[in-house]
Amino acid sequence: MSTATPSPIDPQNIQGDILSGLPKKTETYIFFQISDDVSAFRSQLTHLVPLVTSTAQVLKDRDAIANHKQSKKPGLVEISGLNIAFSQSGLTKMGLTDDVQDAGFKAGMLADAQALGDAGTTANSKFDPNWVPAFKNPVHGVIFLSGDCHATVSKRVRQVEQIFKVGAHDATIHEVLRIVGDVRPDKESGHEHFGFLDGISNPSVQGFDSAPPPGAPAQVQPGVILLGRDGDSVPVGSRPSWTLDGSFLAFRYLFQLVPEFNEFLEKNPVQLPGLTPKEGSEFLGARLVGRWKSGAPLDLAPLKDDPALGADSQRNNSFNYTADSTDFTSQTRCPFAAHVRKTNPRNDLKQAFGADVAKNRIIRRGVQFGPELTELEKKEKKTQNGRGLLFVSYQSTLANGFQFLQKSWANQETFLGRAGVTKPGLDPIIGQSNTDPTLREMVGSDPDHPTNQLKFPQEWVVPRGGEYFFSPSIPALRDTIAEAVHIAA
Ligand code: HEM
Repeated sequence: MSTATPSPIDPQNIQGDILSGLPKKTETYIFFQISDDVSAFRSQLTHLVPLVTSTAQVLKDRDAIANHKQSKKPGLVEISGLNIAFSQSGLTKMGLTDDVQDAGFKAGMLADAQALGDAGTTANSKFDPNWVPAFKNPVHGVIFLSGDCHATVSKRVRQVEQIFKVGAHDATIHEVLRIVGDVRPDKESGHEHFGFLDGISNPSVQGFDSAPPPGAPAQVQPGVILLGRDGDSVPVGSRPSWTLDGSFLAFRYLFQLVPEFNEFLEKNPVQLPGLTPKEGSEFLGARLVGRWKSGAPLDLAPLKDDPALGADSQRNNSFNYTADSTDFTSQTRCPFAAHVRKTNPRNDLKQAFGADVAKNRIIRRGVQFGPELTELEKKEKKTQNGRGLLFVSYQSTLANGFQFLQKSWANQETFLGRAGVTKPGLDPIIGQSNTDPTLREMVGSDPDHPTNQLKFPQEWVVPRGGEYFFSPSIPALRDTIAEAVHIAA
């Protein structure tokens, strides 16, 4: 272990999904267990390491995509990416028992399911979440492969299968679950399944990203995301040296009940003078999320959608909930419970308590899965096909990042409470309570009657599994995790 401040960030060393995001139209997640022949697995991993996409490669790929778009050539550039991450049980299986100093990671997500608020049953004081079976058994790791189309990704998947001899009697990985995610088609591209533009607000990282546009949240220290760098909550030099430039990856398999969500909006339009019922329903959707479907934030466009603002990356994140600077107890522009305000309260806590939320920022990746709504689903207002979000977030400390956002902010009715509004309510999108899901409610959905309660008859986002992984740096993968010595022998 070294106590020296590490050298500047080298994009060659960091897996590409973390700081830059693997470019993708589609992404396949392969969750696996490592066979008992651990040394064969570790030696085969040496063949995978050269295929792992670095941040430097992603930057080149993004340039190639930009050039292609500019040249107005048809089709998409053929691009693929591959990243890998391990759970604590995977590291332990490989004999890497150093303490990475993250309690949530060490315990795993299954042990956290009840505290996260996931639904389930309890028998003999053991909580059993309503998850798919794959996540109720140890998952040692995940390999995820991205690309411009299914054919490109399939080629990469075959390479991975060959490396680990998948299908053969001496295969070194056993696939426990494969999930394919796809960016939604045409004008819904970039929008999650409820219809809202996603992936707008991620923290800008010092030493890697250029400065954010004026008015947007300030940059965060690199250690908020990367282990072993300034801003890591564990002092620099205290974690095993091979964890430098890695990041904890929280994966959540989140199903979305879209027709049911839409029906709720339809039945509960915000009633303001001049709004048609349809406009009132759209407005309610925006009040629940904190942004309009176009991506325009309520803090800047409180009454009417502004698609040009939503599409403008120089302006669509330039707000800090300070527009009501005369009265920061006001939720006239944006409810305190709105999803984006709950998960990143920006200046709210600073104004109320002098607290800074920089340490609680996460980088979100992930992709949609499942088909578009069918006519039958629209007509019967009932989900027939599984669809949702393959949620991925990166952070250097799970207890400050994903776990904190879900448990201490989204699930807490009192969070952001203050004089006048002591209980803003749960995050309507992801806030959950496994004691009684039908007791979810919020205030502030109607700007003219900000203390009126709005009750939610059900949850519209249903977690069906997940795991906490560690996404190591490429040098750590090459020099510590993969065992080159076996190849040489
Ligand atoms: C299916 C589930 C989810 C849906 C539909 C959803 C949807 C959205 C949308 C539409 C946005 C606005 C776009 C943007 O600001 O980038 C957003 C932002 C965000 N979401 Fe979610 N989300 C989901 C799950 C989660 C979870 C599980 C977390 C963490 C516990 C989370 C944390 C965040 C954060 C941190 C932001 C950015 C807030 C900001 O910086 O203003 N989301 N989400």
